[in-house]
Amino acid sequence: MAEKFYITTPIYYPSRKFTLGNCYTTVICDAISRFNKLLGKEVFFMTGTDEHGQKIAQAAASAGKTEMEYLDEIIADAKNLWKMLGIEYDKFIRTTDDYHVKAVQKIFKDLYDRGYIYKSSYKGKYCVPCESFWTESQLVDGKCPDCHRDVIEQEEESYFFKLSEFGDRLLDLYRSNPDFLKPQSRVNEMVTNFIKPGLDDLCVTRTSVKWGVPVDFDPKHTIYVWIDALSNYITGLGYGSEDDSNFKKYWPADVHVIGKEIVRFHAIIWPAILMALDIPVPKRVFGHGWLLFGGDKLSKSKTVSNVECVDPRILAPRYSADAVRYILLREIPFGSDGNYSTELFLNLINSDLANNYGNLISRTFTMLKKYEGGIVPEITDEEEVDKNLRTSVLELVEETKKHMNSNFDVSKALGSIFDIFSKANKYIEETEPYKLAKDESKKDKLKLVMRNLLESIRIGTVLLSAFLPDCSKKVLDALHVNGADILSLNEFYGLKEGDTVEELGILFPRLDVTKELEELSKIVQ
Ligand code: MSP
Repeated sequence: MAEKFYITTPIYYPSRKFTLGNCYTTVICDAISRFNKLLGKEVFFMTGTDEHGQKIAQAAASAGKTEMEYLDEIIADAKNLWKMLGIEYDKFIRTTDDYHVKAVQKIFKDLYDRGYIYKSSYKGKYCVPCESFWTESQLVDGKCPDCHRDVIEQEEESYFFKLSEFGDRLLDLYRSNPDFLKPQSRVNEMVTNFIKPGLDDLCVTRTSVKWGVPVDFDPKHTIYVWIDALSNYITGLGYGSEDDSNFKKYWPADVHVIGKEIVRFHAIIWPAILMALDIPVPKRVFGHGWLLFGGDKLSKSKTVSNVECVDPRILAPRYSADAVRYILLREIPFGSDGNYSTELFLNLINSDLANNYGNLISRTFTMLKKYEGGIVPEITDEEEVDKNLRTSVLELVEETKKHMNSNFDVSKALGSIFDIFSKANKYIEETEPYKLAKDESKKDKLKLVMRNLLESIRIGTVLLSAFLPDCSKKVLDALHVNGADILSLNEFYGLKEGDTVEELGILFPRLDVTKELEELSKIVQ
C-alpha cells in the first residue's frame, strides 16, 4: 500500500492584493506535494481560506456587499491565481463551508464537555488586523508585536480554553519529538517567549464579533477565529462530519507549512487543542522565513508603495509561472528570510533558467538533430569523463531526495537539480561534441556524449517537474518520458534507443533586464 502524505498550507486571509510573499507558502507546499507524488506516495494537499472575523465584516461593509458576496469574489480570484501558478491542491477548504462550521461547533462543545473550556470575562489588548489578544508584556512599545499597530482595550463575557494546563505537555512534545517543530530556532522561541513565562488561558469566544461561527449552546458568542481556522486541518479531512474516512486515512498531518509569524498558533495552541481532544498532534510544523521586499515582509496589512513589481498576476503571464515559482523556491534558504527584488528575479531567469537549463536543452536538442537526426543514440564504452557525469548525476538525484525528505529544503533540492544541469553543460565543454562531429573515427563517442546529455536532461527534468511543472512537461513530452515515474531515476540509462526526440522551441528567452525594469515600472505605477 502506498505511503500516505498529508501536507497543508495555512488557510489564507482572503485578499485581492496577494503578493509574491503570500504565494510563497503555497508554492512551497505544491512543490513538496508534487515531489512526494513523484516518490509514489498517496498525497493529500490542502489549502483554503480563513473567512471569519471582524476584519472581513468591515471590509465587506465598506465595499457595500454582504460578507458572502464579498468573499465569493475574492475566493474566485484566489483560485484563479493558484491555477495561474500551477498549484495542484487536492482540497480547497473555506471556513464558511457548512461542514466546517458544524464540525467547529462540535469541536468547541467537545472541549467544553471535557472541561477544557469555561466561561468568564475577558479584559485585554486586542489587535483588530491580526485578530489576536496580547498580554501587556507581549506588546512592543504598547503596540501589537506582529504588525506594530495600535491595540484596543476589550472587555466582555467570554469562554476560555485552559491553555495554561498544557505547558509541561508541550515541553514534553518538543523534547520527545525533536522533529515536531522546525527549524530548531523556532522551538527555542516558543519555549523562551511563551511557555517558560507561563501560558495564560486563551479567550476563545467573542460577543462583539458577529461574523464568526456561533457557539451552538450559547449563540451570542462566536468562536475565536484562530480556533475556527486551526480546526480546518482536521475538518477538511471530514473530522466531525459523517464521512471522516480521509481523517482516518491521512491524520496526523505529515507537515503543516506556515510562516514564522504564526508558529505560536501552530506549535502551542493547535497541539494543546488536539491533546485536549485526544487526537494525535501533527508530525511536523515547519515555520518558514519571509520573502522580504526592501527589508520588509510586505505583509497582508500593508501596501506596495515602491516601483518593485511584486504582483504575481503581472509577473506570471509575462515571464511564466515557472519563473515565479523558481524565485520563490530558490531564493529563500528554507527556514530563513530571503530578499526579493525585481532585478534579482529577472537576473535569475537569465542566469539559471535561460543560460543554464534552457541553454543546455537547446544546445543538446540542436546537436542531436544535426548529428543524430534527432534519434536517441546507442551507448558504447564509456571513458572516465562520461562515467564521472553519470556518477555525479545519480549522486545529485540522491542529494535532491535527501533535501526533500529530511528537511523539505526546497531551495537546496533545486540547487542539486541545477547542479545536474551545470554538470551536463560542463560535460559539453569537456567532450566538445561539435569537434567529435568533424571526426569520422569519433562517431561512437559522439553518440555516447549525446546520449549522456539526453539522460542527464531526462533525470534532472523528472526531478524538476515537481518544482517547475510547465517547462518540465514540455521537455519530458519531447523526450517521450512519463514524468510521474520516479523509478526511472534509479538508472542512468532510461531512454529508448532509436526513439525520436521532438524539436523544442526556446524555453526561457534571455531578457534585457534594463528594458524589462523600465517596462515593469510603467505597468506598476
Ligand atoms: N489566516 C492565517 C492562517 C491561519 S492557518 C490556521 C494567516 N493568513 S495569511 O494570509 O496572513 O498568511 C498566509 C501565509 O502567507 C502565511 O504562512 C504567511 O507567513 C505567508 N506570507 C505572507 N506574506 C509573506 C511573505 N512576505 N513571505 C513569506 N510568506 C509570507 O496568517
